[in-house]
Amino acid sequence: MTNKELTYCKILQGDCLQWLKDNPEEEIHLTFLDPPFNQGKEYRHFNDNLPQEQYWGWLGDIIKRINEITVPGGAIYFMQREKNTEEALRILRETGWEFQNLIIWRKKTSAIPCDIRFGKQYQIIVFATKGRKPRVFNKLRINPPLPPEYKHDRENGIYVTDVWDDIRELTSGYFAGDEAIRDDDGKRIHTQQSPIALLLRIILSSSIPGDCVFDPFSGSGTTLTAASQLNRKAVGIEVDPHNVELIRRRISQIRPADEVGRFRKEYIYTENLSEIWGEQNLEMAINYN
Ligand SMILES: C[S@@+](CC[C@H](N)C(=O)[O-])C[C@H]1O[C@@H](n2cnc3c(N)ncnc32)[C@H](O)[C@@H]1O
Repeated sequence: MTNKELTYCKILQGDCLQWLKDNPEEEIHLTFLDPPFNQGKEYRHFNDNLPQEQYWGWLGDIIKRINEITVPGGAIYFMQREKNTEEALRILRETGWEFQNLIIWRKKTSAIPCDIRFGKQYQIIVFATKGRKPRVFNKLRINPPLPPEYKHDRENGIYVTDVWDDIRELTSGYFAGDEAIRDDDGKRIHTQQSPIALLLRIILSSSIPGDCVFDPFSGSGTTLTAASQLNRKAVGIEVDPHNVELIRRRISQIRPADEVGRFRKEYIYTENLSEIWGEQNLEMAINYN
């Protein structure tokens, strides 16, 4: 190799808190944290029905350890249900993170009706950094369709704000399209699979090629799938061996629906796009434990 760096994608099966305790030397630049939401769902490998205090105590330990192995100015994006906003902000503050944005990820799907309050249509993603000043923040520009009252096309798009309403959730219905990974009977294999477009936006905003992106709750491996195409290093932990197998297959052969390239045109007005996109010319090693 010349001056090119070797990127890698590590997929580890196990408990993320244990891994975080055992790996004090790791250097993380960006974390996407999408934990189970403790909604009492049936899972094979963990209890999704913990007493609230225990759930937040456990997440707090994880988030604190992530902070310790994150480089100064490194970022975390913490996804949660909107009803947990208060707790999510508190836990980040108490574990040493500096708040940057409360991102509203407005789902394109219709809101679930509710009798006693407004229907809920968004999820929160808290963006925070280690220290007040982010080490990297790339100002992305997008060009969403013009509102009907606009008479003239924009010349060079608009900056992404803290309301993300242009990324469709992968629902269980037909909207999930080709991107949702399904078994032979057409059933979704991982119902919490995040959209590749969501991880693309997070990775482009808060990292540069060569950085290490961490996902302690990897699920179906969306973070690893996006990071590995953008020449970032990636470390993912997942407790369920079936999911680990799924991730292994997913990143060893990128499906057309998972290609980040199909979203590139949405960001063409971003000034430093080619620099932050990361050309796919670096060698990549894939490790499984
Ligand atoms: C909400 S899902 C993440 C979905 C992911 N963002 C994706 O795109 O597929 C949470 C995942 O965390 C995993 N998990 C739960 N407890 C864990 C633990 N202690 N350590 C590592 N993974 C865990 C679950 O098996 C589940 O796949």
